[in-house]
Amino acid sequence: MDECMNTNRDHWNGVVSSHVKAPSYDVDGFRAGETTLRPIELEEVGDVSGKSLLHLQCHFGLDTMSWARLGARATGVDFSDEAISTAQSLSSELGLDARFICSNVYDLPDVLDEQFDVVFTSYGVLAWLPDLDRWAQTVAHFVKPGGTFHIAEIHPIESMMEYDADTDELRWEYPYFFQSEALRSECAHTYAAENAAANSPVTYEWCHSLGEIVTSLINAGLTIEYLHEFPFCCYQPFPCMTKDENGWWRLPEKYRDIPLLFSIKARNNLSSILRTSG
Ligand SMILES: C[S@@+](CC[C@H](N)C(=O)[O-])C[C@H]1O[C@@H](n2cnc3c(N)ncnc32)[C@H](O)[C@@H]1O
Repeated sequence: MDECMNTNRDHWNGVVSSHVKAPSYDVDGFRAGETTLRPIELEEVGDVSGKSLLHLQCHFGLDTMSWARLGARATGVDFSDEAISTAQSLSSELGLDARFICSNVYDLPDVLDEQFDVVFTSYGVLAWLPDLDRWAQTVAHFVKPGGTFHIAEIHPIESMMEYDADTDELRWEYPYFFQSEALRSECAHTYAAENAAANSPVTYEWCHSLGEIVTSLINAGLTIEYLHEFPFCCYQPFPCMTKDENGWWRLPEKYRDIPLLFSIKARNNLSSILRTSG
């Protein structure tokens, strides 16, 4: 498992320099003051002004810094040292109140001794994690009593599909339920840039069903407030998709009921439980 995660870290280290230049990350727009946060998380996380916020798997930190621009005391974490050093230099160049820590999510409790008003993670994070129970325990560990956890993520149903160029159809290709053996892929391209992973194309990923995700958070002691599902995506996983007027990628009409994103809000209700029982 650790070997798979080491290979994944090499992959992520290898893609950072291309992603910084990729149009979809639009670092110049970010420098000019634009946010990289999307309406789902902006609406669901709400006002972060003056709040402490931990962003897990932050890549090179644009979302973390966008939360800082909205007034959060933001901490971004990622296990890619290339991503973290890029985030640190962008943050100091722009004079933002964001701190970045290089750590595997699973090791974070050994490195960081704090709790946060908000713990946040988004878009392309869970497939890299072999053990969701441990992940959820880590999340819960960092949410203050009364604080919230928010995830906006690729829907597991979307991750099952592959586009068939010959038929212009989607087909079911990958498993829905967790399998302990990782899915190995070898691809030079990423969601953000062609050939970004030319020198580190191998990755290992794990499938997690919606039930597994929700149950892991409940078992870790968090209270789920909602689970939302969306028929649109934040990037273009399949060539047959088109962008709508709000910038979301949509499937053709015949696939309109396929969920492509989901979001969850969960709360650490420890303080209210203590108040009730006390
Ligand atoms: C698809 S990216 C997340 C993209 C991010 N939402 C953004 O908009 O830039 C996934 C990130 O997870 C990080 N990652 C993968 N496995 C990790 C782990 N076990 N611990 C910490 N970070 C990890 C990778 O380094 C990468 O930066």
